[in-house]
Amino acid sequence: MTEAEAAAELERLAAEIARHNRLYHTDDAPEISDADYDALTRRNAELERQFPHLVRADSPSKQVGAAPAGHLAKVAHALQMLSLDNAFSEEEVAEFLARVRRYLNLTDDAEVAVTAEPKIDGLSCSLRYEKGVLVLAATRGDGTTGEDVTPNARTIGDIPQRLSGDVPDIFEIRGEVYMSKADFAALNARLLAEAEDPDKARQFANPRNAAAGSLRQKDAAVTRSRPLRFYAHGWGEVSALPADTQSGVMRAIKSWGVPISHDIGLFTDVTGLIAQYRKIEAKRADLPFDIDGVVYKVDRLDWQRRLGQVARAPRWALAHKFPAEKAETILEAIDIQVGRTGKLTPVARLKPVSVGGVTVTNATLHNADEIARLGVRVGDRVRIQRAGDVIPQVLENLTPDEKRPAYVFPDKCPECDSDAVREEGEVDIRCTGGLICPAQRVERLRHFVGRHALDIEGLGITHIEAFFRDGLMQSPADIFTLKKDDLLARERWAEVSAQNLIDAIDARRMPPLDRFLLALGIRHVGEVTARDLARRYRSWDAFQTMIDGVLALRHETQPVIGEEERKFLQRRNKAVVEAVGTQNIGPEVANALLDFFEEGHNREVVAAIFAAGVAPADVVHEVRQSPVTGKTVVFTGSLEALSRDEAKAQAEALGAKAAGDVSKKTDLVVAGPGAGSKLKKAAELGIEVIDEAAWLRIVAEAG
Ligand code: IVH
Repeated sequence: MTEAEAAAELERLAAEIARHNRLYHTDDAPEISDADYDALTRRNAELERQFPHLVRADSPSKQVGAAPAGHLAKVAHALQMLSLDNAFSEEEVAEFLARVRRYLNLTDDAEVAVTAEPKIDGLSCSLRYEKGVLVLAATRGDGTTGEDVTPNARTIGDIPQRLSGDVPDIFEIRGEVYMSKADFAALNARLLAEAEDPDKARQFANPRNAAAGSLRQKDAAVTRSRPLRFYAHGWGEVSALPADTQSGVMRAIKSWGVPISHDIGLFTDVTGLIAQYRKIEAKRADLPFDIDGVVYKVDRLDWQRRLGQVARAPRWALAHKFPAEKAETILEAIDIQVGRTGKLTPVARLKPVSVGGVTVTNATLHNADEIARLGVRVGDRVRIQRAGDVIPQVLENLTPDEKRPAYVFPDKCPECDSDAVREEGEVDIRCTGGLICPAQRVERLRHFVGRHALDIEGLGITHIEAFFRDGLMQSPADIFTLKKDDLLARERWAEVSAQNLIDAIDARRMPPLDRFLLALGIRHVGEVTARDLARRYRSWDAFQTMIDGVLALRHETQPVIGEEERKFLQRRNKAVVEAVGTQNIGPEVANALLDFFEEGHNREVVAAIFAAGVAPADVVHEVRQSPVTGKTVVFTGSLEALSRDEAKAQAEALGAKAAGDVSKKTDLVVAGPGAGSKLKKAAELGIEVIDEAAWLRIVAEAG
């Protein structure tokens, strides 16, 4: 793997992991299983190990959880709220103890007492007591900044407003807010009963999400109506400690009136810890709440202090996770779900089965390859697994039968009937009707008006979702037929705000061609490709003529099979790429463009946008001549006067190409303070390097 590839993958991973963090921690609506999430973070860690100089400032390895959601006030934690390292085997537990001993430089016969207690599956919360009175409750957030949930926490019976007994002046109790399995089931049933439309009823995936969604409410009355519980497992900032061991402080917290786990044991060797782990595991299904492992903590606090923390987890604690729980059941149907970005995911509908106390009726089958690998058909008996997970998985087919016909993956999107295609070399099958597909519309609308696309000020996701829900905005064309009166008829819209939005929309009726192309959300067409296409074709008509020509070419040929087919595809790809005819566009992009325009629904939507009074502006700008015309420029480090986007635009206006990475093809590097590996590489390759001021002189001289 080259450095550029690694950097690109790290960038992609950072964005993807951040998105899943947000879905999990902020929206309480995860899309992937914990195991898949772990695989992403492991891949990130692996690449960072191989390419330590490429570790990003926004690397997921440096973060705990996700930044807090928008609507609650933020609070900085007096002491960071940490996460825990995970272990999955006895060896890893033994290694943890050995590491502790090594770090503390203990002799072999020195005794190390370690507590063991259940790891409850809730969300952590910090309760700040001053002079024994609750003054602040905060969620973990990203570990440094959380959300203020004080009024909400006050509604939880387990959390005293005032501690009893001899409490230090400042004492932050940290622990877990959770919901019992029974209360979770009752809450979901209630939400279903109360919903106007049962198909759209909000349902929580598991007790953890229900607890998070219930605690993080703007309106504490909602929290009050949700049966939340709390137990303490540690502390944050304190003015004094009531004991010098973990177990001693926990006893004190209990004596002040805050619940702690019933199952805290103290052990001095691996055998004891593992016995406690097995004991807790055996009780797991019968416990009234979800647990996903056992937490070990070095008991002596002076040792905890010496051990300190690495990155985001203490060296003195370890979470020993339970293995995934498994069960067998019957596969009753395979349904296809369409994700917000058009990915078709097969979902196994199962005969309900209890897995570790939770009734499972659905499991993911991931993709068509996975169905083929498992060889599953409706009616098969399957083994499934739930790993404290959001989405259970199908592990194995217990009744494979080659003779019955195999499952056929649909070639049409079940939501909108557009073609569903699988790109060469990809595992996922995607719906190509992005602009009309109900499953994707909100996401597409958001993309359409987003900052890099049409950039319509004041039309954010909240409005889009509300307009969509009320039928005011179903597809991009509806943006441009929106009337001021439509807005004024709605709550919270007044003359000025309505006029502002209408003006912002009108201001975008002639978007630059590249932004318009980007806005369509064609797969693989990002900013750079959209710009290349716009520069090459200069007008929508010319672009459309080219597409129609290439589509005809794509249809000319007869399908063939085997080696012939491969050669044919190769030839066709080459022809298509040549016909699209811009630099930097490979078969992947070219075919994605064609798939998009081949789908009649998409053409209809584009036509409707034009009919609503939108006309992409032709590209007219003449390239200004300058010493950098025709050269490749890389910007690195932090620029002061310019944003990275503006600097790139300047380069392009001067007929230069702005690239992301330094390579042999680079002619000039503009480096600001803090420039690192790219600057080094430029020096190695003998490439000219200038600072921002010199760059601005070049721009000014070009006039
Ligand atoms: S101790 C220094 N003990 O698990 C970190 N955490 O995966 C303090 N959790 O953020 C955590 N039960 O929210 C600790 N008995 C327990 C726990 C526990 C659940 C949560 C906690 C933590 C997360 C880490």
